[in-house]
Formats: sequence, structure tokens, C-alpha cells
Amino acid sequence: MRTQVAIVGAGPAGLILAHLLHASGIEAVVIERQTRAYVEGRVRAGVLEQGTVDCLTKLGLDERLRREGLRHSGTHLSSDGEDFRIDLEAASGGSCVTVYGQQEVTHDLFEAAEARGLTILFEADEVRLHDIETDRPAVTCRTPAGEHRLDCDFVVGCDGFHGVCRAAIPADILRHFERVYPFGWLGILTERPPVAEELVYASHERGFALASMRSLMRSRYYIQCDMDQRLEDWPDERIWDELALRLGPSLGERLQRGPSFEKSIAPLRSYVAEPMRFGRLFLAGDAAHIVPPTGAKGLNLAVSDVSMLGEALAEYYAERSVAGIDAYSTRALARVWKAERFSWWFTSLTHRFPQTGAFERRMQVAELDYLRTSPRAQAAFAENYVGLPLI
Ligand code: FAD
Ligand code: DHB
Repeated sequence: MRTQVAIVGAGPAGLILAHLLHASGIEAVVIERQTRAYVEGRVRAGVLEQGTVDCLTKLGLDERLRREGLRHSGTHLSSDGEDFRIDLEAASGGSCVTVYGQQEVTHDLFEAAEARGLTILFEADEVRLHDIETDRPAVTCRTPAGEHRLDCDFVVGCDGFHGVCRAAIPADILRHFERVYPFGWLGILTERPPVAEELVYASHERGFALASMRSLMRSRYYIQCDMDQRLEDWPDERIWDELALRLGPSLGERLQRGPSFEKSIAPLRSYVAEPMRFGRLFLAGDAAHIVPPTGAKGLNLAVSDVSMLGEALAEYYAERSVAGIDAYSTRALARVWKAERFSWWFTSLTHRFPQTGAFERRMQVAELDYLRTSPRAQAAFAENYVGLPLI
């Protein structure tokens, strides 16, 4: 089979890129290791930046998002049980975030892909990249339908942190920057109304907690936990008690406890691979970088990467200009590093580290109080939280 762009991975990055290329009249084939049901079933991100919503709108994929997504013009931070609100819209000069689950985004992307006739090969095993340093790269794989060879102009690795594409870049070219955090996030979903109308990020002496939601009837909660703990260590009652403590008395009282589902523990990591291009291979999304989830940047970064790459590839095919594709890695990394900084900073401000003694805790509390009282600090927070522009 021959196509112009082979995309490895049908997560948000791969699917949005396929739609962007389709809109520019560029042929693409997406190769995905899992089934559609598996990809759609993964519970992950929940908060979309304004730029992500704008991108989905431009692609005509915003109909259900407008109807069911929850527009939040503010968010709450809590310091040892005392919460305060940051008016994101006022502090950022008019931008908001939208609560709409990654599962819903992925579902909409798959539905529209089918309606628009995009090609996706599911259950692809043994995905291999060939000749990426030449003008005629190829991807081979095996699906239940048989062996495939995709000859193409470009390969885009949207295959997440554990994918195969990043590993195809020679070790002497690729640089890694990494921080692994000494704790994880225990997450649950529950069929109960959220504790507050907006999200609450809680920094407590006992550790971090986040009250989020998927709808007005479904809540999503996270608490910081040790990585050596197992799910069996966290029966529902213990999670609710801990959430109530960390959120503080007034929110804790209002917490609607229900049976949890989708209980899982996720590790926290900051990671960047440089460069995001080698020859005819580009990396986008989690394949190139990971942020700790505090601040909800992961999915949004995947979207900003592919927005930049989609533009660059459209320019290449329309004008035979390589300026855009040559600039992609540098341009994407400039934004990636700023989101890495914000996620790292927000994690450091709100989590309990092994070295968090009395002095370090006072520093966190002082910085939270600064955020509570300083419009300038709130403006910097809001600008980053709603998403930096694509420059
Ligand atoms: P992925 O979603 O990982 O997709 C990669 C795809 O490639 C997968 O479908 C995978 O099956 C496929 N693949 C892998 N290997 C191969 C292979 N060899 N061949 C073919 N296909 C392959 N981000 C936010 O912005 N906001 C949030 O609120 C947020 N919350 C999060 C909460 C949790 C608990 C977690 C775990 C993550 C969260 N994130 C959040 C991060 C976000 O989910 C990811 O950043 C996002 O999914 C990245 O999209 P992606 O398309 O780059 O990668
Ligand atoms: C969610 C996850 C995040 O990492 C975050 O900062 C906000 C919300 C969520 O899954 O709802």
C-alpha cells in the first residue's frame, strides 16, 4: 500500500493529525496496536485547553463537545483545607477550559474518522519502521487481515510513551531529559455529583488531592499515594476519608461518597526527548514527552504538537517548502518545555515529597498564599493553565 503519511498510534495525537491531514487533502493511514474499543475505553485526561477546543472546532468535531462539555471559567486551589478560586477567564484575558473526557474526544474522533473514510489499521503487531533517513520510508506490520507494507513520504510516531517510533532514532542523536516522582496518583470515578462546581487542586500536609469530574453526575477524584502501594491497600472508605481530610472540612462535608469504578494508580514522570524529528520521522504527543498530570497538560500538548506538524506538512505538500517541517522540532519543543515547567512547578507546589520537612511545607504554603492574594501571580497561573499560544 502507498500513502503520503503513515501515522503510528490512534490516540488523540494520531487521530487528530489524521483529521488535520484529511482536511488539507493529504492521504494518511493510521496504524494502531489495539482495538478501537480498547483505545476508547482508556480513562485518562479530562480537561481541554481553549486551543484544543479551537482545534476540534476547526475540524468540525465540536458538536457533542459543545453540548456535553462543561466550560469552566475558574478553578480552585486549596491549602491545608482552605480553598480559594482563581478566575481563569478574568486572569487570562478571556480564556476558559472545558471539562470533556479523553474517552469522549477519542470516541468523537473515531466516529468522524469512519464517516470521513479515514483508514485505520487496528490490532497491528510487529510495527517496524524502515529507511526513515531516506526520502522513501516505509512501515510494516501484521494485523488479523495479514501482513502490510506502507510506503510513504513521512512517518509520524504518535504511539505514546511505550511505542516503537522514538526507539527508531539512533541513540547518539536522541537526548533524554527525565524526572521520575517518588509517588503516584490513585484515581477513581464515581457515579455521584462532583463536590464542587469547578475543579479543586488541594495541597495538604498529608499530600495532594484533586476533585475533578466528567459530568454533573460523574466525579473523578485523585489522591497522591506511594508507588509501592497496591489497590488492595485502598478500599473505597479509606479513599473517601483521605479525600475528605485533604479537601478540608467544608468540602469534605459535602463529598458525595459512592462505589468507585476504574480505580487505578498512575506513576508521575516528566520526560522530554530531543529532537522530535529524525530524517522522515516525526514524533508527537506522549511519544516525545510526558508531563506529570498536575495541570492537565498531556493531551493538550499532543494536540498542539500535531497542530504544528499538520500545518508544516500542509505547507510541504502545497508549496514543496521544507521550512515548516524543518522548524517543527524546535517550534514544538519550545512550547513543550514551557508546559513541562508548569506541570513540574504545579506538582512541586502541591505534593508531599520525601524531603518535605517543616521548612519546605512553609514554602509551599507561602507560595499558595501568594497565589491567593496576588493578581499578577494568578495571571501567570491562568495563562499557563488555559494553555499558552502556539507561536
Ligand atoms: P496515547 O494516548 O498514549 O496514544 C498512543 C497510541 O499508540 C495508543 O492508542 C497505543 O495503543 C498506540 N501504540 C502504542 N505502541 C504502538 C505500536 N507499537 N504500534 C501501533 N500503535 C501503538 N492529559 C491532559 O491533557 N489532561 C488531563 O487531565 C490528563 N489527565 C491524565 C490522567 C491520567 C491518569 C493519565 C494516565 C494521563 C492523563 N493525561 C492528561 C495525559 C494524556 O492522557 C496523554 O498525554 C494523551 O493520551 C497523549 O496522547 P497521545 O496520542 O500522544 O498518546
Ligand atoms: C483531570 C486530570 C488532571 O491531571 C487534571 O489536572 C485535572 C483533571 C481529570 O482526569 O479530570
